[in-house]
Amino acid sequence: MPSDRRIVLSSDHAAIALRQAIARHIGAQGWEVVDLGPTTPESTHYPAHGEAAARAVAAGDCALGIILCGTGQGIMMAANKIRGIRCGVCADPFSARMIRQHNDANMLALGARVVGEGLALDIVDAFLNAAFEGGRHAIRVDMISALES
Ligand code: RB5
Repeated sequence: MPSDRRIVLSSDHAAIALRQAIARHIGAQGWEVVDLGPTTPESTHYPAHGEAAARAVAAGDCALGIILCGTGQGIMMAANKIRGIRCGVCADPFSARMIRQHNDANMLALGARVVGEGLALDIVDAFLNAAFEGGRHAIRVDMISALES
């Protein structure tokens, strides 16, 4: 049974430093971080990194995921192609809290060329400290899931 405090991180080359800062930040909070890299700055392809992290979440190996590229948009699009993944790009803490509370997001995407480190860490904290509210929102999330079949 995977821990509900186990979280996967991945990025492309555009977001290595921010991904590593997030890993340190949430590791210090007690999260078990599975960092899929990359660690070297060669140009790479965000769909592969989004897929790898999304598969770890979809398989239940990690409870949540945080993925990054230059804008957050491309890697989010890739992750959302994996069945069971609900990933949103956020550039503010309010949206990050709401995608957990209302959309039951299991992944957060960030753009390293959009947000600075301080704001990114606030966004991450808002995401991780929020919980799905269920109720009427569960009906809507179930409707999203139904679109996968
Ligand atoms: C890489 O240059 C860039 O396209 C990528 O990091 C991301 O922003 C794509 O959505």
